[in-house]
Amino acid sequence: MTQDFDSVIHGGEVFTGQGLVRCDIGIRGGRIAALGEGLAGGRTRFDAAGRWVLPGGVDAHVHVDQPPNPGSAARGAQMADDFESGSRSAAFGGTTTIIPFAPQFKGQTLRDALAVYHARADGHSHVDYGFHMIVSDPTEAVLADELPALVEEGYTSAKIYLTYEALRLSDRQVLDVLDASRGCGMLTMVHAENLDCILWLTDRLEREGKTAPRHHADSRPMLVEREATFRAVALAELVGAPLLIVHVSGREAIDVIGQARARGLPVVAETCPQYLFLSTDDLHGDEGAKCMCSPPPRAKENAPFVWRGLQNGALSLVSSDHAPYRFDETGKLKYGPRASFRFIANGIPGVETRMPLLFSEGVMAGRLTLAEFVELCCTAPARLYGLLPHKGQIAVGADADLALWDPHRKTVIDNALLHHNVDYTPYAGMDVTGWPTHVWLRGELVCADGELRGQPGQGRFLRRGRHGIPLRSA
Ligand code: URP
Ligand code: ZN
Ligand code: ZN
Repeated sequence: MTQDFDSVIHGGEVFTGQGLVRCDIGIRGGRIAALGEGLAGGRTRFDAAGRWVLPGGVDAHVHVDQPPNPGSAARGAQMADDFESGSRSAAFGGTTTIIPFAPQFKGQTLRDALAVYHARADGHSHVDYGFHMIVSDPTEAVLADELPALVEEGYTSAKIYLTYEALRLSDRQVLDVLDASRGCGMLTMVHAENLDCILWLTDRLEREGKTAPRHHADSRPMLVEREATFRAVALAELVGAPLLIVHVSGREAIDVIGQARARGLPVVAETCPQYLFLSTDDLHGDEGAKCMCSPPPRAKENAPFVWRGLQNGALSLVSSDHAPYRFDETGKLKYGPRASFRFIANGIPGVETRMPLLFSEGVMAGRLTLAEFVELCCTAPARLYGLLPHKGQIAVGADADLALWDPHRKTVIDNALLHHNVDYTPYAGMDVTGWPTHVWLRGELVCADGELRGQPGQGRFLRRGRHGIPLRSA
């Protein structure tokens, strides 16, 4: 009997779990209805011969339309991407789900913060999206009432900060958030850098006249990240709560995480392309601000340790930490071309280049298997952030979020090829092999051969389930 599919993608090699298999994908009602050879029917049929069909990526760390906190030194800088351009750029890079942030300002409820970001996203996104909360004011009402209620409503993760004056929580507050998270099944994500060390070093560098972007790296050396990572892990262990450490930059923090995991603690960690492909050298010169993010890119010798962390499981996922500022007076240069690094907005664009860079330098260069690539960019973020079984995998019943990769396509990265609203990419000039040519969201084409086929608003808000990290038994 011929099955009735809305569409069939046929003739490609499909990643269904362990590796590539030659099979067709039958799609009905936005979901994968069948996987198998020789699927007939389908109102539309798409020939995928010679290409690889991978799950759409899940980028679990992006900042969209999120200005720096009014209390921050870079206040007033504007993000270049709104939900339309940020999600468009995600789609062209093979990513079909993004999880941006909804930061709470002091005195604001989490619910009000989420409402602001829903209004920014609603009707504008090309890909599906959830929200992480950012807790900067963990009052009794937030901890006891708001967090448990919002977790029930699908906001199942929140980021906290150990740095940035406007956001930093005390150790006592961190313990309170972790304790609340354990009670309601929320996943706490932590930005682990020690604020007092950074401020002390920044003051000293400024006294010495060392204010150029390259000194941003001197103000937050690896030790500062290692100390905060160790402390965050210890606080989570004290409470017995799971912890996800975001944007891990290098060897010292990776060692701390590896030791925690070896002891069976429910600690997981994310890294980002900037710690594999950029280095402190990129902070030099007049345009160094283009590569300023926190934690900063590290010395060149560090990258192999990050690759090793991805290979040995110390690092569980790769996100972009897309934080898009233009290199002009609206963004990076808000306080002028000679401003001290203290006043330059932190963050770099990367939502579109995340998967092509990792595919090329990971899979095609032999550092990662294809299964590891899919796990790091698609399945692990879906599992950790409560999106399985619908996102992050190709399986019957999952959403038909698919990216068709030409594994041999050669591209020299150039900002003109990208679809964000930023006027540069830190990865310009890099040669990559492999790029997604077609992307489907719930069975609908979003982009094809460089052309946008989707509509803003095609992406839906996702209520997420609870994290998939087993807690160690007490
Ligand atoms: O420099 C960065 N990473 N900017 C984005 C904000 C954050 O802390 O992730
Ligand atoms: Zn951060
Ligand atoms: Zn971030």
